[in-house]
Amino acid sequence: MPGLGAPTATEPAPEYVRRFSGAEQSLHWLLAVSFLTMLATGLILYLPSLAEVAAQRQLWKSIHLGAALGFWVGLLLVWSTDAVQLRATRREIDHFDRDDRAWLAWSVTRRGPEPPQGRFNAGQKLNAAIVAGLMVVFTITGVLIYLQEASARFRGTSAILIHDVAMYIAIPLVIGHLYLALLNPSTRHSLRGMTLGSVRRDWARRHHPKWEREL
Ligand code: HEM
Repeated sequence: MPGLGAPTATEPAPEYVRRFSGAEQSLHWLLAVSFLTMLATGLILYLPSLAEVAAQRQLWKSIHLGAALGFWVGLLLVWSTDAVQLRATRREIDHFDRDDRAWLAWSVTRRGPEPPQGRFNAGQKLNAAIVAGLMVVFTITGVLIYLQEASARFRGTSAILIHDVAMYIAIPLVIGHLYLALLNPSTRHSLRGMTLGSVRRDWARRHHPKWEREL
């Protein structure tokens, strides 16, 4: 991205601002590793074309369930390290103001100037809310599927169907997220924030001006 390379002799050294706390980064990477593990093992169990790999069904199932359990146990552990900060982050994500609504409309039409955004833009807030909802849906329906296999008393629910629909929602969301975080030139600087904790102030000003002003 122009202006984001190494500083030249004439360019001043870039100024960095703190974007994510240690607890936020830990929570994100816990979610990323467990979610991608569940997605990969879930697809192995689900896709007929992967039936050969899925021959060791029990193994993939154990990894799938282990990742889900690992996520919830990890969430409790990370949450307990900095509950105050993480609750504030959750409130920040839950709060949708007029600029956020304008940003959503702007992201569709791309007409006029971009409405100013806080630390998370409206798309990121929506993404975080949908992912959180999906984790709950995956867990409840996953437990039901597990119980159905163990006992006839739990059969007759639509748990498998809902679990599959959640997967169809998750896949494009994760692909879009990875594109923005790893490939898209104007947004991929954000990866520095999620790995090292800080981002360049000029990037913050361009993408999240309301937040940058508060710093
Ligand atoms: C290797 C894989 C991944 C990479 C490189 C990655 C990268 C990132 C980065 C750089 C951010 C911060 C964006 C910012 O500065 O505003 C972020 C945020 C976030 N990530 Fe990931 N991520 C990965 C996997 C995942 C997965 C699998 C999920 C869950 C399905 C996930 C969910 C989130 C959420 C909810 C946020 C906060 C909201 C948002 O920025 O959209 N990430 N990720």
